[in-house]
Amino acid sequence: MQVKFVDLGRQYQDLRSEILDTVDKVFNSGWYVLGPNLEKFEEKFAEYCGVKHAIGVGNGSDALYLILASLGVGPGDEVITAPNSFVASAAAVDRTGATTVFCDVGEDMNLDPSKLEEALTERTKVVMPVHLTGRIAKMEQISQFVKRHGLLLVEDAAQAVGAKQNEKRAGSFGVAAGFSLHPLKNLFVHGDGGMITTNSDDLASHIREFRNHGLRNRDEAGFWGINSRLDEVQAAVALIKLKHLDHWNARNQEIAKAYSKALKDFVRVPEEEAGEIGVYHRYMIRTNQREELAEFLLSHEVETKVNYPIPLHLMPASNKLETCSYPMCEQLSKTILSLPIYPTMTDQEVHWVISKVKQFFYK
Ligand SMILES: Cc1ncc(COP(=O)(O)O)c(C=O)c1O
Repeated sequence: MQVKFVDLGRQYQDLRSEILDTVDKVFNSGWYVLGPNLEKFEEKFAEYCGVKHAIGVGNGSDALYLILASLGVGPGDEVITAPNSFVASAAAVDRTGATTVFCDVGEDMNLDPSKLEEALTERTKVVMPVHLTGRIAKMEQISQFVKRHGLLLVEDAAQAVGAKQNEKRAGSFGVAAGFSLHPLKNLFVHGDGGMITTNSDDLASHIREFRNHGLRNRDEAGFWGINSRLDEVQAAVALIKLKHLDHWNARNQEIAKAYSKALKDFVRVPEEEAGEIGVYHRYMIRTNQREELAEFLLSHEVETKVNYPIPLHLMPASNKLETCSYPMCEQLSKTILSLPIYPTMTDQEVHWVISKVKQFFYK
């Protein structure tokens, strides 16, 4: 049996006629940008996340940039974030002219609130936790730190659509949050897409102009903005998919549970704390035999990935930053392995993965 790391075509097959019908309607309408589908999706996404506003943008990277720049983050400012993220988290900060300051992560692979103090300087303006693997960072402690020091809290929720902590959804904890609708995310469109959530009326209206060239009306720009909009076709497709998201996330949770139950005696499995509902964008195990296990699984046609093998502070792109070492992040980068997890995985495939991991350790 072959188990791919992701299989996006299967989800498409399940929704094919609805998607094709919808795309056809949008194409026929002649209205492709900033139209009724985007408006509707923004309304539904805000409702889903439990916030006042949602704004559709071109991708998750632009979402983070638009938020930070709209908050006035720029040269001379510092943004604290996690070093074990996708490159976009640090790149978004850099694009504003501000400096990324990394802070080590904890056992949950997310920002360690007890380390934030070390990263703080008089230039710190924002703390931006990344909800890695679809698990929300320790928001209560992070929020307290942010309040204590008069900072702003921005969530990089790119991987965490639908995740909950104490009944609050990802995207509703800070001043704003950025989501990605990239094909590898739990809620994805067929190309690039991103969303911003916020409860602030002022921030929302500024970002709405910013993503549309800075235009306040058809002819007049209040400031120079960028062109980063979720188009009508993608918004219409996202509207279809949003209806299925909870059900898909529940299937991911079911698979994660099966993995954890079967594998906990062989590898370190993700743990959930009380009040936490992760959406398992990735299911990451930890083992000192990472390379050997990955190779063994591949020889049995089970694809795995490492998210991410190079911490951000060790990338050439970070050369100009004054970075220290972040021991937990570095250790994780050498031991983590992501197993296949997606809602359309069959029980047989899940059991095949489990049996092959076990077989490796029994060898
Ligand atoms: C943590 C994180 N932040 C930001 C992004 C950027 O999103 P996008 O690829 O839609 O630009 C991603 C997506 O890959 C991500 O995983």
